[in-house]
Amino acid sequence: MIVLKSDDEIKRMADACRIVAEVLEGIRERVVPGVTTKDLDGFAESYIRSKGARPAFKGYRGYPASVCTSINEQVVHGIPSSARIREGDIISLDIGVEYNGFYGDAAVTLPVGSIRKEAKKLLSVTERALESGMEKAVAGNRLSDISSAIQQCVESEGFSVVRNFVGHGIGRELHEEPQVPNFGRPGEGPELVPGMTLAIEPMVNAGNWEVLILNDGWTAVTKDRSLSAHYEHTVAITKNGLDILTK
Ligand code: CO
Repeated sequence: MIVLKSDDEIKRMADACRIVAEVLEGIRERVVPGVTTKDLDGFAESYIRSKGARPAFKGYRGYPASVCTSINEQVVHGIPSSARIREGDIISLDIGVEYNGFYGDAAVTLPVGSIRKEAKKLLSVTERALESGMEKAVAGNRLSDISSAIQQCVESEGFSVVRNFVGHGIGRELHEEPQVPNFGRPGEGPELVPGMTLAIEPMVNAGNWEVLILNDGWTAVTKDRSLSAHYEHTVAITKNGLDILTK
């Protein structure tokens, strides 16, 4: 069942989402060569708690940290550690917050110092794929219009979309119905209506779409070890158009 939110509930979600956006803003300047992913996690957790909010991922199915930090060929769910990020890396930062009974969830992939041309293209295509998906997130469209727009944007640039992980509904739970795949034919699935709140999150590989899970039980990596990027926003479909809550 898809749980629709009232305007008041969307306002409360926006409060959680604002904290997510602030963490992602504050973390940017900390993404420099030599920093450990644990340092980044520490910044995020203290910021979130200073706002009276809770890091939504910590303890979720046993996940041990507040942020997912996925470097280079890591797709999602990389666990913060004492590993240092290096010039030329790309790092995906995925953050979830619970505040006042509601959740927000967003991700970006950032360059560490200067990065190769191919990596730059991967980041811009993935960000653009999220934007093209969001453009279809309007009342009256069907859910898979979002999926299809993302897939087309990615594949027209020669990259591939990950199949094993998908976006999701979000609200009083981190993961609600419906699933929001980043692939599919247009015109299918439920009709989009005002009050739907979704986490749209393309995960894009420079090579093949296949992924493996490392022995830590969390970190997803590309099977061919090609680079991977991830952008995510929590959005609300309203009668006046799309509200990007984590912007
Ligand atoms: Co998500």
